[in-house]
Amino acid sequence: NAAPVTVTVTGAAGQIGYALVFRIAAGDMLGPDVPVRLKLLEVPQAVRSAEGVAMELDDGAFPLLAGVDVTTDARIAFDGANLALLVGARPRGPGMERSDLLEANGAIFGPQGAAINAGAADDVRVLVVGNPANTNALIARAAAPDVPAERFTAMTRLDHNRALTQVAKHAEVPVSQVRRVTIWGNHSATQYPDVFHATVGDRPAPEVLEVPDDGAGWLTETFVPTVAQRGAAVIEVRGGSSVASAANAALEHTRDWVLGTPVGDWTSAGLVSRGEYGVPEGLVCSFPVISDGGPALGPDAARWSVVEGLELSELSRARIDASVAELEAEREAVRALGLV
Ligand code: NAI
Repeated sequence: NAAPVTVTVTGAAGQIGYALVFRIAAGDMLGPDVPVRLKLLEVPQAVRSAEGVAMELDDGAFPLLAGVDVTTDARIAFDGANLALLVGARPRGPGMERSDLLEANGAIFGPQGAAINAGAADDVRVLVVGNPANTNALIARAAAPDVPAERFTAMTRLDHNRALTQVAKHAEVPVSQVRRVTIWGNHSATQYPDVFHATVGDRPAPEVLEVPDDGAGWLTETFVPTVAQRGAAVIEVRGGSSVASAANAALEHTRDWVLGTPVGDWTSAGLVSRGEYGVPEGLVCSFPVISDGGPALGPDAARWSVVEGLELSELSRARIDASVAELEAEREAVRALGLV
C-alpha cells in the first residue's frame, strides 16, 4: 500500500471544514487507493470543536484514514504537509473596512505561509479557499519564498462549477455535455465567467446558446450576474452560505491538480500569474488551466498550466481587465500594510 498523504485542513471545525474532511477520509479526493493522514488546524476558541470532528472521523472507521491530529499551532499543522487546504479565514465583521479585513487575514495567511515554508513536504500543494481567496493566497505565497510560486492556488472551482450548470440548464443538456468554460480574474463579484471557448456536446457553446460576440442578451444580462452572485443567492434561499458545494469544489480542484484534468477539457483556478493574457506577474488570478496529472505526488508530479492562445473578444478583454484591476488594488492595499 502507498504511504499516506498528509493533508492539512485549516478551519477544520468550520462549516466547509466539516463537510470536507469526511469526504477526504472517504477517498473522494485522491481515490480509493491512497491513504490519508489528516492534520486539522483551528484557533483556540474552536479547537475543542475540531477535536469533536476528529472523534467523528474515528467513528467513520474509514479504511483510508491513517490518522488525525488536531492542533492550534500552524508549525505542527503544516509539518510534512503534502496538501494544504487553507479554509479558515476571518470574515468581514460589522463596520469592518476592507483594509481591516485584509489586515486580519494577513495575520492568518502570513504565518501560515511561513509555517508551510518552514516545514511542509517538498511537494506541498496549497489551495486557499478562505476569502478574499486570491489575495490570501498572494499573502501566503509571499511568506513562503522557498516554495515554488506555482504551488499556491486560490479556489475558483465553485464558480467554475456554477458556470457549467448554468450553461447546461440554458442549453437543456446534462452538465456532463458542457466543457471548457472559464472563470477569469478574482473570486469576487467582478469575476468573469466566459463561455466563448466552451463546448456543448461537440458544438461551440456560443452557437448553441445563441450568444453574439458582444454578449448582448442572456450572457451579460443573466449568465454572468447569476454565476457571480450565486453565493448571495444561496445565502438568501438556504439561509446559510455555500458549504457542501464549496467543499466539493475544493476536493475537485485538488483531485484534478494531483490526478490531472480530463483530456479535452480544462478547469479554472487562481494561479500566480507569469504574465499570461497580460495579467501582471505575481497576481493570483483565475485562468483556464489544465493539469497533466501524475503518477503520484512528488516534486515532479502534476502541475497546473494556463491554457494559452485563446482569443479574447472585446467584451471578454474588458471584463477580465476590470477584475484584474480589482486584484491589483487588493495587492496595493496589502503592500501598503506590509503584508507582501
Ligand atoms: P466558518 O466560519 O464556518 O469556518 C471558518 C473556520 O475557520 C472557523 O472554525 C474558524 O475558527 C477557523 N479559523 C479562523 N481563523 C483561523 C486560523 N488562523 N487558523 C485555523 N482556523 C481558523 O466558514 P466556512 O463557511 O467554513 O467558510 C470558510 C471560508 O471559505 C470563508 O472565508 C468563506 O468566505 C470562504 N469560501 C470561499 C469560497 C470560494 O469559492 N473560494 C466558497 C465558499 C466559502
